[in-house]
Amino acid sequence: MVLKSAPSSARSATAQALYKIVHEGQSLTRSTRSLAERIDDPRDRAFAQSCIYGVLRHYYSLQALLDQLLKKPLRRKDADIEALLLSGLYQIKLMNVPAHAAVSSNVEAARSLNKSWACGLVNAVLRKASAQPLTLERDRTTHFEHPSWLVERLQVDYPDDWESILNANNEHPPMTLRVNRLQSSRADYLAALGDTNLPAEPTRFSDDGVLLTHSSPVAQLPGFEQGLFSVQDEAAQLATGLLELEPGQRVLDACAAPGGKTTHILERVENAVELLALDLDAGRLEDVKANFARLGLSCSTLAADATDIDTWWDGKYFDRILLDAPCSASGIIRRHPDIRFHRSPEDIAELADRQRKLLASMWSVLAPGGTLLYVTCSVFPAENDAVIAHLAEATADASVDILDIAWARRTKFGCQILPGDHGMDGFYYARLSKGHPAI
Ligand SMILES: C[S@@+](CC[C@H](N)C(=O)[O-])C[C@H]1O[C@@H](n2cnc3c(N)ncnc32)[C@H](O)[C@@H]1O
Repeated sequence: MVLKSAPSSARSATAQALYKIVHEGQSLTRSTRSLAERIDDPRDRAFAQSCIYGVLRHYYSLQALLDQLLKKPLRRKDADIEALLLSGLYQIKLMNVPAHAAVSSNVEAARSLNKSWACGLVNAVLRKASAQPLTLERDRTTHFEHPSWLVERLQVDYPDDWESILNANNEHPPMTLRVNRLQSSRADYLAALGDTNLPAEPTRFSDDGVLLTHSSPVAQLPGFEQGLFSVQDEAAQLATGLLELEPGQRVLDACAAPGGKTTHILERVENAVELLALDLDAGRLEDVKANFARLGLSCSTLAADATDIDTWWDGKYFDRILLDAPCSASGIIRRHPDIRFHRSPEDIAELADRQRKLLASMWSVLAPGGTLLYVTCSVFPAENDAVIAHLAEATADASVDILDIAWARRTKFGCQILPGDHGMDGFYYARLSKGHPAI
């Protein structure tokens, strides 16, 4: 449970984190790490984190209220004070922090941001806010809490579902675990959770998944350090089964870090396949290795650009390739509410270009008769079906497998989970098989 009070230092840290996310493009993941360095008390940290997520989820409604309360807009160089005011409004309106407590500690926080001049302003705005209702407008004024380009793009791509996608993006996601079947069984782990008074149920589609009724810090769940489970949404867990792995295969996980799917592959097949985990980012590969150490797994890892084949490929074709491509992450906005501030329409075109190149490179190292699974956590067809269509048109030996499965919607070349479908994250999957060359 998040406390409703925290010292002014936690509130100024919250404002600075929000400022960096919204105005400097810092990721929420990075800002969460720096909060951990700045705020010692875990309850204060939880308060700050809850405020940051809340403000990002309700940014446009809070901004609309702030605009009404300010006599004139703040200057660009005072965007940190704007962030402080938005989080103060969130505390009063949506966290039910008593107004007097929110006012006094945010006034103090303005001082610790070295903006003593703003103390009067923060005091006046937050006092006035207590009397003013916040309308969480799920309409065009506040774009359903999304930037307008994103709303418009979803309206074009999903004329029937755009509204439910936007609403799902503002929901709190469930906490889903994947039980390490080499260490425990799902039934045993559910029993262990029950013994700890942590209600949970099996996931509907993934054989390894456990859905917690209430989110909990991982350290408080049984067996995290012992490697009994990983945290992973059910949609991500469903990728591994589509690879149809068989003993003895040579398998490439082309964009592996931080290793969510690599570790799932290893848990399913132990050492029965020869797996190479590749990633461009050597730092993120360290996270893969840390996950291996915790879960008791291992395989070859390599830091390399998958498209630069001459630098890493040993000339032996792969029977299975998982390409979990870098993408807009537009399917997981409910988990990363900062994404809506970090993407632009130009990014989608750039990402699609990278995805096409990655797919073409991976196709060239796939064995005849082999299978490639292309996955993204994007909802945009430009990053999904259009990428597959590009390869299928340019390549004579690619055939697209029909993925007729209960848990996803069929698309022309693959299948799509939209955010919130069966409670899952938004994910896209397409499976391609390589024809044997004509003799
Ligand atoms: C969606 S994430 C992969 C998530 C991972 N498969 C998992 O399940 O945990 C995409 C990854 O692709 C990597 N990447 C981006 N471009 C790459 C490239 N050209 N070659 C190899 N990896 C790349 C990024 O560093 C990032 O770690």
